[in-house]
Amino acid sequence: ATIHVILSGGVGSRLWPLSRKSRPKQYIPIFDQKTLFQKTVERNQGLCDRLIIVGNKNNYLLSREAIKKVGKQDFEEIIEACPRNTAAAIAFAALAAKSEDILFVTPSDHLIENGDHYKECVHRAMELAGEGYIVTFGLEPDHPDTGFGYIEAKGEDVLGFREKPNLDTAEKFLKKGNFLWNSGMFCFKAGVFLEELRLYQPDIFHKAEIAFKAKNEIFLDNELSCEIPSVSVDYAVMERTTKIKVVPSHFEWSDMGSFDSIFNYFKKKGHPIDEKGNMVIGTDIHTEFLGLKNAMVIASPDALLILQREKAQDVKKIFERLSTEN
Ligand code: GDD
Ligand code: MG
Repeated sequence: ATIHVILSGGVGSRLWPLSRKSRPKQYIPIFDQKTLFQKTVERNQGLCDRLIIVGNKNNYLLSREAIKKVGKQDFEEIIEACPRNTAAAIAFAALAAKSEDILFVTPSDHLIENGDHYKECVHRAMELAGEGYIVTFGLEPDHPDTGFGYIEAKGEDVLGFREKPNLDTAEKFLKKGNFLWNSGMFCFKAGVFLEELRLYQPDIFHKAEIAFKAKNEIFLDNELSCEIPSVSVDYAVMERTTKIKVVPSHFEWSDMGSFDSIFNYFKKKGHPIDEKGNMVIGTDIHTEFLGLKNAMVIASPDALLILQREKAQDVKKIFERLSTEN
């Protein structure tokens, strides 16, 4: 069978105050009145035989609500009590599948356009996965972003994978020209993934297996889960496996990771911006900027963020401070 796996564990700390502990960014309905989670389900409807959502105890009801809206009925859930990053989350989905099943793993917080080409890419990835490869999707980079993984590619072959390089390295990669951004979506046979995880991260593999076996229906045990090392799949497997391939892709893709991407998205949609590049989100209150450049005002019902856009990556620090204060 083919299984679409949606990872929905992230808290979206860089989008505070739109994103809150009680409602992470993938559940905020600001993208054509829809949430990113809902759009993820819609975009992939009909592509796979099964759907597994790996979420957590704070958000699974929001996932259920979104799926109801889409009108899709059949789905399975794995609910984490102690999120341990994507290597473990994907391992749980793979453990819920048969070894020969093909997993198509996607995040829940991306926007993708150009649906037909997207589907072609997914189909190609499934073919390669069927041959035993771990397949990534590579996108043409347009700036040296340090928040992404980079794939050194020659056609569908991968010469190297490098997760979140520093700025110098990212600039070098762009100059070299044959580097693609890792989209964060992956496709492989469940058994192939688990073998590679066991080979490169035996500790994650074994502890994830123990936690998975001990789960209570859909709910994973908190203590056993907390034992699992927290490593993203990019470091744990993608940087190391020799079975990796890439599908060079050209669909329109954005990771709604920070207010930078939110700004670009709203700009494209025609949301007002003043002549100094200032933007207001989340309120209709008349707002004026004086002496400010590239600033954003982001309003939620009970909190306000006034942001210099170049600091977009640091919003996370506010979220973290507030979380420990509460
Ligand atoms: N269930 C679960 N549990 N999901 C998780 C967990 C977890 O512990 N941690 C993260 N996720 C989900 C997030 O909600 C998101 O949908 C997805 O997994 C990816 O996690 P991010 O934390 O957003 O990763 P990233 O953006 O830093 O990096 C990844 O994506 C980039 C593209 O957006 C990497 O794959 C990069 O290489 C890639 O370029
Ligand atoms: Mg992300």
